[in-house]
Amino acid sequence: MNDDKHILKTIRVYLPDEDATSALAAQLAPMLCGERPAAPPGGRIHLRGDLGAGKTSFTRAFLRAAGIRGRIKSPSYTLLESYNLSNLYFYHLDFYRFSNSNEWVDAGFRDILQENAIVLIEWPEQAGKLLPPPDLDIHLEYADAGRQASLTAHSNKGLLWLTTLVLPPQASRPQEPHDVD
Ligand SMILES: Nc1ncnc2c1ncn2[C@@H]1O[C@H](COP(=O)(O)OP(=O)(O)OP(=O)(O)O)[C@@H](O)[C@H]1O
Ligand SMILES: [Mg+2]
Repeated sequence: MNDDKHILKTIRVYLPDEDATSALAAQLAPMLCGERPAAPPGGRIHLRGDLGAGKTSFTRAFLRAAGIRGRIKSPSYTLLESYNLSNLYFYHLDFYRFSNSNEWVDAGFRDILQENAIVLIEWPEQAGKLLPPPDLDIHLEYADAGRQASLTAHSNKGLLWLTTLVLPPQASRPQEPHDVD
């Protein structure tokens, strides 16, 4: 029996600007690449949030930090952009345009969900229930001038990443002032 699906831990971090989004991505990249902590490479991240929330920004910074050079295109139209770096395979998907939730299966994307692939998916909710839960779900929400990120681990691997993350002090968004009696 696989207990992974019962794991659920959420960390919330306030990202005041794009640099903060990039810094978070740059911390996660070596973890999925198997560098730190030392572990076999591979993993899946779902990126959720409204249009312009920063899903592609996050992925670009992630791929750059992983060592990908050259142009990193948004897969908004192509659905999939893939990259290879020695033994590492990266897949950046965007399911925004899917109308039929099983379309990704028909498109042959199931093959990329292999154990050692590094997969980042924008708009995973468009892919329906056949898409397995990720190791880590990142939900980006507009908050003041920045973004509130909620990172939820859905597997032991995701949990390990969350516990390895070093968040800046004051990482949480300042609380709204509340009424004093
Ligand atoms: N933490 C942040 N605070 C403020 N702005 C940010 C932050 N992170 C990224 N941005 C900006 O927000 C925008 C995000 O655009 P991006 O294309 O990454 O969004 P997206 O979530 O991929 O949208 P879509 O759903 O259309 O694919 C960019 O202009 C980027 O500079
Ligand atoms: Mg995008």
